Amino acid sequence: MDITDVILRQHDDQRRLFAMLEEWPRDDHAGLAAVWKRLEILLEVHAEAEEKYFYPELLRLGTGGADAESVDEEVEDAVKDHNEIRQAVRRVGRCRTGSDAWWRAVVDANVHNSDHMGEEERQDLADFRQQATLELRHEIAVQFLRYEAIRWADGITPKDKDPEGYVTSRKTSEASATARKAARDAKKATTTGRARAARSKKSSAEAAEG
Ligand SMILES: [Fe+2]
Ligand SMILES: [Fe+2]
Repeated sequence: MDITDVILRQHDDQRRLFAMLEEWPRDDHAGLAAVWKRLEILLEVHAEAEEKYFYPELLRLGTGGADAESVDEEVEDAVKDHNEIRQAVRRVGRCRTGSDAWWRAVVDANVHNSDHMGEEERQDLADFRQQATLELRHEIAVQFLRYEAIRWADGITPKDKDPEGYVTSRKTSEASATARKAARDAKKATTTGRARAARSKKSSAEAAEG
């Protein structure tokens, strides 16, 4: 598993659910409400899981991907985007399903979410792929998916975060328990790989002699 791949796939699910709403029969309000509820849960659980498990590791290792000024700016911007998406989602909740106001709020959530996903893929995900080991990407994916699996059925109450405060409180150069485990696994993989290579070198030398 790889956290950058997990996030990318969930973005795709979000795009597909917005597209599904667009072509849903407009007079099926119960169906629209049900599809929206599924999307609402996906958006919030995904955003919270990123804030809990992905951005803190990105803050520690990232250098600012693509057009980002720095990793701090990259993450601050992402948390600000999450707040804007939450705001649009709350507006949808205040409108009567299927009304003009409801559709306007849904489109607004789609616009904020599309902008955010594009930026996150170009900056945050690219940055992490370049800086983090495969072992760490695997460990974070497990934690991220575990958190989501527990909360998937009922969703969670959205909580806005102060973007600057978030970065300050989460930024540390100290490796988390997850990062330490990933580093041990990476070391083990290298050592095993080296031993395996030495063994096969030895056996091919013996075969050549024999
Ligand atoms: Fe995301
Ligand atoms: Fe995000």
